[in-house]
This record gives sequence, structure tokens and C-alpha cells, in this order.
Amino acid sequence: MTLLYGNRLTLPKKQLHESAVFSGGVAAAKDVILLLPMCGSVSSSLSCNQARLATVSGTQQQQQQQQYQGLLRKSSSSLDARFPPLRSLSDEEHGSRGQNQASRRQAISSSEAATVHSASDIDALSGIDWDNFGFGLRPTDFMYVMKCTLGGEWGKGKLQPFGNLEISPAAAVLNYGQGLFEGLKAYRTEDERILLFRPEENAMRLIAGADRMSMPSLPVDSFLHAVEQAVLANKRWIPPPGKGSLYIRPLLIGTGGVLGLNPAPEYTFVIYVSPVGCYFKGGLAPIDLQVESFYHRAGPGGTGGVKTIGNYAPVLKTQLKAKGKGYSDVLYLDAVENKYVEEVSSCNIFMVKDNVISTPELKGTILPGITRKSIVELAGSCGYEVFERPVDVEELLAADEVFCTGTAVVVNPVGSITYESRRIKYNGGEVGEVAKELYEALTNIQMGRAEDKMGWIVELN
Ligand code: COI
Repeated sequence: MTLLYGNRLTLPKKQLHESAVFSGGVAAAKDVILLLPMCGSVSSSLSCNQARLATVSGTQQQQQQQQYQGLLRKSSSSLDARFPPLRSLSDEEHGSRGQNQASRRQAISSSEAATVHSASDIDALSGIDWDNFGFGLRPTDFMYVMKCTLGGEWGKGKLQPFGNLEISPAAAVLNYGQGLFEGLKAYRTEDERILLFRPEENAMRLIAGADRMSMPSLPVDSFLHAVEQAVLANKRWIPPPGKGSLYIRPLLIGTGGVLGLNPAPEYTFVIYVSPVGCYFKGGLAPIDLQVESFYHRAGPGGTGGVKTIGNYAPVLKTQLKAKGKGYSDVLYLDAVENKYVEEVSSCNIFMVKDNVISTPELKGTILPGITRKSIVELAGSCGYEVFERPVDVEELLAADEVFCTGTAVVVNPVGSITYESRRIKYNGGEVGEVAKELYEALTNIQMGRAEDKMGWIVELN
């Protein structure tokens, strides 16, 4: 808590520490800090601008979607005149620069990160109970940090010990929510290889999100290099094969101070990592969802289609209420007609009827999940008919099977959905056949147990 005495900004002696929002999915922060920046006469050890911080219509939607697709095609090019082309890291800094995607897939080699921590030693963490990992934050050794000024170039990225960031209380991310995040995973295989799943997709989604949030993006190669550094520096934290994964959390945030509503003058790109197991309590057991028909997650023309930090805190209220009643999570409907299924707080949703798979189409209000995209492609390659289209909540209730997808949740079956006074159970509470088949097909590729015919895996060594 921050205390204000007259003109003084006084922080309690107890060291402030960051809030762990990483626990069992979208969850309320354990500590909430109130910062009261004052420009004028602050006579404490803090300077005026520094404090230690512990932590639409259908057409518009279509345009937004087209814009997103266009941005993905442009990938590493400049997106806005205010943000001129950014230099990639130098050859010395960036071992993989200039490699095309195909050769990058074969192997990314790293010198810097490997020397930071030479351990491939799972033994060093022999005290860890790898069998009982949930999705909670476990601080690891290093984080990757890189900075850039508005209209400038990205500086040299560096690994530093995992810890608090020092930013202005006037930072645009704190005051106006100018921030994006990503999520991807690294897996350890039986033969001690380290695999990443489709990291270029995260890089490209960040570029699209940065454009929407008026932030400078970073080139795909720089993103991949940073991920590689962060993973290899924390290699010992990658769980043993089959016991989970290393969740990688890139953040792009406006850290420069602003008072009026403007883009931040400075940006920070951070990657931290944490070993994780299953997202929902009970592992891969079917989850119980409640349909929310009053609050909406996103509206036409808004930011529902990008991974901005501001999309997540507003779902906590409904999520906490639903959890209090014994549900696992909340399913949102569209904000216009209040009858088309959108997504769950932290993942996308699929339904199966007569062996045909459907998922809500991307129209600017739904997160373009990388697992969602992969399941659409994988199900097609397994011979299923797959449709991305509007899904009426009544259709969902009449489905044979329902499941969720996401980086954190992977593929998670839905056991029941409650909509107003109706509760529909699927598969008698058992895992559905389609969800099971797709879960296995996907995770076998991700964990290196099956041939990667799709070209999705990037191997680090
Ligand atoms: C992910 O699945 O990676 C996400 O970012 C969802 C998050 C709420 C854990």
C-alpha cells in the first residue's frame, strides 16, 4: 500500500514485491499497489517521476480482420511512419540473423545464453515436485530486456537476473494500458532437445497488436532471438519430458512517462519464463463453463482481436463470480446480439456436431489464438471438416462435444455449459473422442514425439 502524508510520498519499509497474476490462469493480483505520483514537491527519497515499482459494425470488423491479415504478411516491416524501420540486432548479438525460416527451423544455435547457464541439469532442481505443477508463477533465473524510444531504434537486448522493473509511475502502460503480451511454450524432449512451438506466429501477432496499440514493434528475427536467449538462459527450468513446459511470457509495454493521453516516449520489451503444468485445476479433466450474458469481453472495433493487457483484467469480475459458484471459467457472447459465442476468458472454443468441427470466426473481437489456428489446420489434416463461422449459443448447447484451446490450456475438454437456467453436460463428463485425438496429435508434435509434418517446430540447441 502507498501512503500519502501531506506532500510526501512514503512507501512502507516492507519491500514491495510484484503481484503474481500467473496463478491458475487469469487471476486477481495478490498485492495491489496504489501509486500516487506528484509533480511538485516530493521530499522523500523518490524523485518526482520515479518510483520503485514492485512489481462496430460487421464492415468494421471485416476491415479489422483484413488489416490483421495484412499486417501478418508484412511481418517485420515498418508499420507506421512514426515508427521507422527498426534495426535488427547486430550479427554479433544475433546469431540467427539473416537465416530464413526454414534454416531457423532446423536449429537456432546460441552462444550467449548457453554460457549464462551451462546447466542442462534437471538435477540442480531435484527438489522440485515436477508432478504437481499448476499454472502458477515460479520466478526463474533470467529475463530478457530490450528498450526503444518512440521513433528510435531498439537498443541492445540483454539478459538480466529475473527481478522487478524500475519504471516511471507515469508510464503509459500503468496509466493508459499501453501494453501487449504474448504466450508460448518450450518443451524438453526425451533426447534432450529443446523445442518451441510456432514462435514466428507470436512474433507476427505482436506486430499486429503493436500497430493497434500505437507502439513500435520489433522484427520477427529479433523476437525469435530474444525468446531463444530467455529460454536457454533458464534451461534448467524446463520441466522433464511429459511433466509440463516452460511458459514464455513476452511483454511489450510503454514505459516512458506521459501525463496527457499520448503514446509513450519509451518502450520496453521483456521476456520472462516460468515452468508450468496444467492450466485448470484437475489437469485435463473436463471443465465447467458458465455463459455470461450481461458483461462482454470485447466489442466491434475494440481491441478484442489483439493480445492487449487491458482485455484481461475486466474478465476477472465475472470469472471470480463464476468460480465462487463452482464453475471453472466464463464463456462470453458477442456484444451486439448477445447470442453468438466468442471465447472463454483465457482461451478459444470449439464445438463438434456429427463429426464436423466449428469454431467462432475471427472478426476482430476474438483473439486469433495460435493453438486455435493449429487445431483448425490439424483437424483438417486428420480428415475433419472444420468451419470458422458464427456459432449461436443454442448450437453449442446442442453439440456432441465442446473443447477449448490456447497456449496455456492446450486442448481442454468442456464437461458442461450453463446458460441462464440450463445446464448441458457433454459426454457424461468424460473426455470427448475428438478433443482427445486432437490433444494427442498436437502435443505429440509439440513434445517431439511425432514427426512435425506441418513445419511448426523450432529447435534450440
Ligand atoms: C495463453 O494461453 O498463453 C494466454 O495468454 C492466456 C493467459 C490468460 C494465461
